[in-house]
Order: sequence, then structure tokens, then C-alpha cells
Amino acid sequence: MIHLRCIECGSRNPEENGWQQCRQCGDLLEAVYDSTVWGSKLNAPAAAEWQVRWRERRKSDGKEDRSGVWRFRELLPMLDEGQAVVSLEEGNTPLYALPRCRRQSGIEGLWAKHQGMNPTGSFKDLGMTAAVTRARARGATAVACASTGNTAASMAAYAAQAGMRSLVLIPSGKIAGGKLAQSMDYGAITCQLDTDFDGCARVLRALLELEPVYVVNSINPFRIEGQKTLAAEMLEQLGWEVPDHVIVPGGNLANSSALGKGFLELQAWGLCRRAPQISVIQAEGANPLARTLRETEGKALVAVEAETRATAIRIGRPASWKKAVRVLQATGGVCREVSEAEIALAKAELGAEGIGCEPASATTWAGMKQLVKEGFIGPQQKVVLVLTGHTLKDADYVMRFHEGRLLEPAETRGWERALAAQQRRIWKLPASAEAVKQAMQATLEGLPEEA
Ligand code: F0G
Repeated sequence: MIHLRCIECGSRNPEENGWQQCRQCGDLLEAVYDSTVWGSKLNAPAAAEWQVRWRERRKSDGKEDRSGVWRFRELLPMLDEGQAVVSLEEGNTPLYALPRCRRQSGIEGLWAKHQGMNPTGSFKDLGMTAAVTRARARGATAVACASTGNTAASMAAYAAQAGMRSLVLIPSGKIAGGKLAQSMDYGAITCQLDTDFDGCARVLRALLELEPVYVVNSINPFRIEGQKTLAAEMLEQLGWEVPDHVIVPGGNLANSSALGKGFLELQAWGLCRRAPQISVIQAEGANPLARTLRETEGKALVAVEAETRATAIRIGRPASWKKAVRVLQATGGVCREVSEAEIALAKAELGAEGIGCEPASATTWAGMKQLVKEGFIGPQQKVVLVLTGHTLKDADYVMRFHEGRLLEPAETRGWERALAAQQRRIWKLPASAEAVKQAMQATLEGLPEEA
């Protein structure tokens, strides 16, 4: 009922455990479902019935129903009868209003879908429940990935749940402490390689010649199937009203690909009338998609040597670039890049809403400000930012920012005042009530009126 189709040459591929790519042309694969499972477009009452069924499952104690991926299982009909899923009750994440960001941008219809509220603190859990479920069904005993940290943390947790070994390849240094700690905690064989993410991906591929492992990087089409359910959950939370824009950070470009697949399938099935414009934001120093679109109109990948403090998206040769280009073209979205100062500022502004996220996630708000300025996003439009990771993933970044140790002076040029307004101070005081009172007063006197 499911088969894997090449996104380039369209040929049908068998399911394999190694490096999932087309046998004919080497391009990426995507999951396609048999038309007997996936009928033609649903009529309005049938679509409404599905929507009610998905919502009702939230009241159930069944393992699949408690998952924000598997309660939408009609969208990814890949389970055999009676097959148990590997789940940590992922998904069902909050959609937050952002009152301060609304005021600042003038966009009243602005929300953050916080994927950092997943079991391992990032959006990766949505895809990982599907990939590890599939790996176990195929008899794999070990899973592996190259990662900037979050995929690794997620894979390690789901593998542990499934009773499988896991192998993590991460770049040495340049990975957030919380993510490394998670890989250790969940018992992965953790290898820090003397290279970057793109180098780790190369080594993993070479390793497959020596050692059969099931790869759960996002070239694995089942990862995308799990991740695409984000589209359904977001629409459910918005009463099935489609936002005008959804904005995601771009690294290896799987998330944008998955969201696009999700929305376009929902539209094809008659579950929503249209798809939102999906836009991708990259860090200036890790901007292969921005360059690919600018310099080749999306026809050939322009790989870069990636460098950014948003280590999650420090990727120069994104595997899913072609899928992401197609999603942007199909939905009318764009790609923009933001500087290190813009990322740090955006992250602190989201933090001031009580909504922490990791640096890579804050690119969405930084990029949105650009898009509003350009007029690409209009004042009456509805926008959802996808916050991909939890603030505690990279506490070191937060502390360096507030202590003024994060950015070089050359990077802050033009942003000094805005950044200074967001920098919070830790008061180091004697154990005295009087001293604390003075600190409170000094802080309040220094605050702008609006706060
Ligand atoms: N945000 C966070 C927090 C991430 O961890 C990643 C990717 C992205 C955004 C970008 O998503 O790759 O689908 O475009 N992290 C991967 C990892 C690469 O290994 O954890 P993408």
C-alpha cells in the first residue's frame, strides 16, 4: 500500500535499510500511497468527519491516539494491522499567540507553533516516531544518523524506547551542550568527528559499506511522513483556517519539504482549500538555499562552507534542497537570510514573550520582520512561525548573549541599541534584602515604559 518514488525520475524503488536513494538516478525518494488506500478528493462532509475523528482521539488513552503524529494516521497509512508504534507521545504541541511580536510587527494574526515542546525538545520527534517504527518493522537492530544535535537526541531516545542500538555522528565542537547531553543520556554510541555536519553525512554514507545500519537522517522518506503531520495539527488548532504564511528555519531542508508535502496533500484531499506560502529562513553564513534560488533559480545546488552560531542549521550542502525548492515554488514562498545579530535579537525578543526557543528557531521571527518590511507579508495576513527547538538545548548561547560575550563588535553594527535593550543582567549581590531591593529599583527605573 506504500511505495517509494524518486522525486526526479519517478521510478519506483524497493524499500531498503541503507542510504535511501533512487536506484536509477540517485535522487531522493518520497513515500506515495496506493490509490486504493488514498481515494480521490473527499467531499465536505467526509472531510469534516475525518477532522472530528482526529480531534476525538485526543480524549483516548490508546498509544497511537495519544501521539500527535499517529492520531492523524490516515495521512500516513504505513502501519500493518496490529503493528505497535514506537512513540513518546510526540506532537500535540502548543500554538502560542505572540502579543509583543504582534505589536512590534503590526501583524495581528501571528502565532508560534512550538515544536520545541516535543518529548526530546525539538520537531525531530515527529519524524523519528515514524522512522524508528518503520526501522523496527523491517527488523533493524541499530539506527544511525549524522546530525547537528537534535536529530541525534531524538533518534537516541526513540531507539532506546524500541530496544535498538543507536549511532550518532556529530561535528566536534559547534554542537549545543544540551543536545550532546541527551545523546549520552539516551545511550547512543556518540562519535564526535573532526569535521562539520556535511562531513559527518559523508562518513555515515561510507560507513554503510562496512556496517549495515538503518539510516534515520531525513533522506529517509518515513521521517518526512511523520513530520508532515505538523500541517494537520496546525490547521486543527486554527479551526482549519489556512494561514497565509508559514515560516520555518532552513538547515538540511527536510522540515520545509515535509510541511509542503503535508499541506499540499491535505489540499489534494479536500481537507483545506489552499496551502499557505511556505518560506524558509537561513543564517547568512549558512545560506545554500538562498544562494541556490538567487544564483540558479533553484536549478542547481550552490553548496557553501557553513558558519553560524545557530549550530542546528550550520549546514552547507542540504540533502533535501530540491524538495524544498519545489515546495517554495508550489506554494509561492521565498527564502531569506538573517545575520547573527538579527538571530540573537529575535531570540531575545521571543524570550521576552516567555517563549524561549533555540537560536535556529529564532531565524523565523528575524526573517518575518524582513518580510513585513518588504511588504511580502501584509498587515491583514495570518502568519505561523515554526519554532523548532527548546531554549534549554543551547543555554550557553543565552548566557553569552546576556553577558555580552556572544557577538563581535563588527557583527552588531547598526543593531547596538536594539540588542542592548534586550540584554538582561544577572545581579551578583551580598545576601542582603536591602541589596536586592536596590537591584529591583535600578532594574525598574531602567525599563522602558511599555514593559
Ligand atoms: N531548527 C532546529 C532546531 C534544527 O535542529 C534543525 C535541523 C533545523 C531547524 C533545520 O531543519 O534540517 O529540516 O531544514 N537539525 C538537524 C539535526 C540537521 O541534525 O538535528 P531542516
